[in-house]
Amino acid sequence: MTDDLQTLQSETDAALAAAADPRALDAVRVAVLGKSGRLTALLKELGRASPEERRERGAALNRLKDALTAAIEARRGELDAAALGARLAAERMDMTLPPRPRAQGLIHPISRTMEEMAAIFGAMGFAIAEGPDIEDDWRNFGALNIPAHHPARQDMDTFYLPGIDADGRSRVLRTHTSPVQVRTMLNQEPPIRVIVPGRTYRADHDATHSPMFHQVEGLVIDRAITLGHLKGCLIDFLRAFFGITTLPVRFRSSYFPFTEPSMEVDIGWNRKTGELGGGGDWLEILGSGMVHPKVLANCGIDPREWQGFAFGMGIERVTMLKHGIPDLRPFYESDIRWLRHYGFNPLAPAMLHEGV
Ligand code: DAH
Repeated sequence: MTDDLQTLQSETDAALAAAADPRALDAVRVAVLGKSGRLTALLKELGRASPEERRERGAALNRLKDALTAAIEARRGELDAAALGARLAAERMDMTLPPRPRAQGLIHPISRTMEEMAAIFGAMGFAIAEGPDIEDDWRNFGALNIPAHHPARQDMDTFYLPGIDADGRSRVLRTHTSPVQVRTMLNQEPPIRVIVPGRTYRADHDATHSPMFHQVEGLVIDRAITLGHLKGCLIDFLRAFFGITTLPVRFRSSYFPFTEPSMEVDIGWNRKTGELGGGGDWLEILGSGMVHPKVLANCGIDPREWQGFAFGMGIERVTMLKHGIPDLRPFYESDIRWLRHYGFNPLAPAMLHEGV
């Protein structure tokens, strides 16, 4: 090897030994083997040498190039190993530390009731339907046979939204889940069997009313549905839901614009102890009836061919009764102590009772 190549080799070796990190190493590589590196320059000069010279010097330059490339890679390996060693030393974990306690989430009683209702009605062949919280006043009222100046509109303390929708209808926060009956009948051919759990809104706020609350609606439409089907279905549901096979259930004549005849449903309880069952007193629990022919016609269903029943109930109310929860307001306060007391273990599925 000629002197100049020897010098290049020893200087490069010294620079490599001094390179303490990957960036310094790369700088050495570029200075020697890069586009304007020292060795690259020597290789370029080769073109001007005589053929004789070129053969010898060319071979020497290529050997040097291989040697330097190998030296750079070797140094890179050393630096990588040193960096890994430093990280392993710095990031060592103490495996003896106890783990942090893991927070266990609980199912909110409202969700639990909805799950139980879905399970009980699901076993009876019902599907779940849903609709939007913002409704138009035709679906919330008009289609359900509640005309513009009907007192039921005032009763419901409706939240109206500003403006009107594309169809020229006022927009409301739905005051009940019944508009989803309308949506379902408009979108689906009978026979129909659905329940509709969801949020509902009324401008009402005190110890027993919240401006947002939950209802579940039920709708059955078929060719030969009678009041007997309504009664059997609701008796089975209430006994399964409350887990009392002998729960007394009473149907009391009532009025809703969207059903004819209409019935309110009471269950037996003891007014003094609050215990459900045969205590001799009655507690109103839900509204129901045979779907009004006008409602069927409004939704494009021929009332001479199809009929059915519907019902609606408050989810908070049945949840409070079933679990002895005395106050409505904490349902929405997200107080973790309340949830720890009344919440449900997500890994313990709802038990279904006899009769389903
Ligand atoms: N929509 C009624 C309410 O909010 C409840 C109701 C009563 C729904 C009777 C029904 C029904 O489907 O048939 O008070």
